[in-house]
Amino acid sequence: MIDPSDRLTKFDGHFFVELNQRLAHLSAAGADVIRLDSGTPDLPPAAHILETLKQSASDPAAHGYQPYQGTPALRQAWATAYQRSFGVSLDADSEVLPLLGSKEGIVNLTLAYVQPGDVVIVPDPGYMTYARSARIAGGEIYPLPLLPESGYLPDLSSIPQDILRKTKILWLNYPNNPTTATASLDFFSQVVEFAFAHNILVCHDAAYASVTFDGYHAPSLLQVTGAKEIAVEFNTLSKWYNMAGWRVGAALGNRQALATLYQLKSNVDNGHFRPILDAAAAALTGDQGWLVGRNHIYEQRRDLVIRGLLQAGLQPVVPRASLYVWFKVLPGWSSQDFALMLLEKAHVSLVPGTVFGKNGQGYLRLSFTEPGERLSEAMSRINSVLGRRA
Ligand SMILES: Cc1ncc(COP(=O)(O)O)c(C=O)c1O
Repeated sequence: MIDPSDRLTKFDGHFFVELNQRLAHLSAAGADVIRLDSGTPDLPPAAHILETLKQSASDPAAHGYQPYQGTPALRQAWATAYQRSFGVSLDADSEVLPLLGSKEGIVNLTLAYVQPGDVVIVPDPGYMTYARSARIAGGEIYPLPLLPESGYLPDLSSIPQDILRKTKILWLNYPNNPTTATASLDFFSQVVEFAFAHNILVCHDAAYASVTFDGYHAPSLLQVTGAKEIAVEFNTLSKWYNMAGWRVGAALGNRQALATLYQLKSNVDNGHFRPILDAAAAALTGDQGWLVGRNHIYEQRRDLVIRGLLQAGLQPVVPRASLYVWFKVLPGWSSQDFALMLLEKAHVSLVPGTVFGKNGQGYLRLSFTEPGERLSEAMSRINSVLGRRA
């Protein structure tokens, strides 16, 4: 036996790995489990994106290594999309760095900046990769509470000065996974001011900025004047255009931070498959009408789930963005036990809020990434299980 490195002992098992084992047992026993636990969009991308992929793949010259920082056309496509969607001007060569999915960039940027003794401030509850990558890098985590009474926006003034002195990176994510909270441009301005005052790199994860409902438009943190001097925004086509398996994301903004990330990443990975880069550029610059219809489908699913959870006596937060509904478990239950009970009795799989941090206790996250009929079936199963228990 050869011992793995200490890096791997710094965190406990991965929730989804353990969940998959439990699901395998249930399905071996013949259960039809409705999976509302993952953030994978179920609908395919728009036809013109697939067409570009096919055409590009049939070009005999498309199969070689591509540049580490993607093609110039893809970098320009990100800049064009940011101008159109957020009114943010970016220099395609120095302020846009394509990634193999945003998770890759989140981890590699952390590895490029963080070493033992450094602190990384992460939202709690929050997307797990911020904290996990900081631990892999040997850094310390400062969990920043996101609480319902403050609309799941952090109180930056609560962070102790001795923590701030050691902090390299502050992570934020709006629209938020898992709470679905949104942030205003005014809040982002305060964050940028805070980052300048304490010399901290702000990393804003805007994964769900284009998955919005009820006419809501989520802002980019880069819209704040001066943000590019202190902030990097991460974005991804996984959620923007339903291209989760394609592995296309980008880091945008501060050129020095992007150059640092590039320096690390060019030692770790290689350029992506060109047809995927071409299709990604087509997604970012082509007809955006498809997004309206896609978001409308999500909106209808959201409404169905909200109705079902209310009928079951639960208290969901109505999201205006993201793929999720965040709701409180019934009194007297822990998140883990409630999720386990619904999995075993209703065969509906949800994520306990504690997977995202200690402040997720008392909540569950439901993803509406299944068709309406499956969601209806899930709601009626939850209703009958909770009804039986009432
Ligand atoms: C908040 C957030 N950021 C980043 C990611 C990673 O996305 P990808 O690596 O597919 O770009 C996810 C995936 O679920 C997410 O929820």
